[in-house]
Amino acid sequence: MRIIRAKDYEDMSRKAAAIIAAQVITKPNCVLGLATGSSPIGTYANLAAGYEKGDLDFSGVTTVNLDEYKGLPRDNDQSYYYFMNHNFFSKVNVDPARTFLPDGMEADSDKACREYDRIVASVGGVDLQLLGLGHNGHIGFNEPGEVFEADTHCVDLTETTIKANQRFFASIDDVPRQAYTMGIKTIMRAKKILVVVSGKDKAAALKATCTGPITPQVQGSVLQLHNDVIIVADEAALSEM
Ligand code: F6R
Repeated sequence: MRIIRAKDYEDMSRKAAAIIAAQVITKPNCVLGLATGSSPIGTYANLAAGYEKGDLDFSGVTTVNLDEYKGLPRDNDQSYYYFMNHNFFSKVNVDPARTFLPDGMEADSDKACREYDRIVASVGGVDLQLLGLGHNGHIGFNEPGEVFEADTHCVDLTETTIKANQRFFASIDDVPRQAYTMGIKTIMRAKKILVVVSGKDKAAALKATCTGPITPQVQGSVLQLHNDVIIVADEAALSEM
């Protein structure tokens, strides 16, 4: 794991965007694995600025997102589709037909998950996977548990995650209890993985991810086994390391 120290959130976002920009410049038809949440918003803003300046062209890029809430329609402003469209897709020239997320409105979990695995396989796998890190060490919505789930699956979100996401909803009762998420095998198959981590509240999770035992109790710890992981973390997130 290569750890790049950033001063703060803005610095982290610029550095992460530069790494993604290099990927898009060197392979214009690359597949980007993307994440939602607070951590990558600044990265997306920097990429959009690069596009505005004429430095970046996303017309050949395909994107596959990590996860989507089960039961939220795409036009719900808390759906991950809405988030991606608002923060990134609508700001660059990516072809909307080449942007993929699990179908949160497919009630049949098995069908939704197998279809998403088929899509990820059909685009040829992920060149660069962007990840955030949960307070409990989760990646995607792969929550602490007894196993590393391989493929896309439906998860019951933990209380910690529901509480962490509550800030985006009117009340805690509105936070969906389930989500579809890419599994660990798909994440680990990405050629390159880029993790963005910011804030003191992530320091313990980051330490466990990078230096703790490799265990499904800290799903991010599996990244220690990947041979091309870059973590861009700010000083606050690195404060326990
Ligand atoms: C988002 C995702 C999650 C987040 C993680 C951190 O698509 O899969 O794993 O990356 O929960 O979220 P933030 O960045 O909001 O702290």
